[in-house]
Amino acid sequence: MSEDPIKDALNLMPYGFYCITSTDGDDFNAMVANWVSQVSFDPRLVALALQKKSYTHTVIQKGKVLAINLFLKKDSELIKPFSKSRNKNPAKMENADYTLSPETSCPIITGAAAYLECKCIDIVDIQGDHDLVIGEIVGAGIMKSGEAQDILTLPDLGWNYAG
Ligand SMILES: Cc1cc2nc3c(=O)[nH]c(=O)nc-3n(C[C@H](O)[C@H](O)[C@H](O)COP(=O)(O)O)c2cc1C
Repeated sequence: MSEDPIKDALNLMPYGFYCITSTDGDDFNAMVANWVSQVSFDPRLVALALQKKSYTHTVIQKGKVLAINLFLKKDSELIKPFSKSRNKNPAKMENADYTLSPETSCPIITGAAAYLECKCIDIVDIQGDHDLVIGEIVGAGIMKSGEAQDILTLPDLGWNYAG
């Protein structure tokens, strides 16, 4: 507990933990994120709250595609290399193993359990430090079978990104 009940309550929200990949021509990037949710059934839309200053923001703004990579809990080591920014770790993608998704050519990280690939239909300035990226899902794949409870979440790692 801290002196800030809003921070404490926000940190009680259980999030998934994903690798967001993006493509602009021959530039590929991957970052970790938890502020991700489906936000419409028809059409099927997802929203990602994305740091304005991230490298991914520039790539999505230009390339207009992204993919959400989901991992099994037991594969948590596979997502960790993407937790540093491209600016701090310029070789992030050179050292990564991935293939490209069929519809949007976004990186699918080797060892991921599943992916959703999206066309970015909007980037909404919500007057905060993150923008809302809205993606229309145009493809998906499941590489490792499992249930939702087998998928990696933020609490599994004991990390947080809220408050
Ligand atoms: C546990 C954790 C969760 C994160 N969740 C988000 C998120 O939901 N949205 C976001 O924009 N950044 C999030 N970040 C921060 C980005 O991963 C970070 O800014 C990253 O360096 C961006 O990489 P890039 O500059 O290569 O795009 C999170 C970081 C960590 C460690």
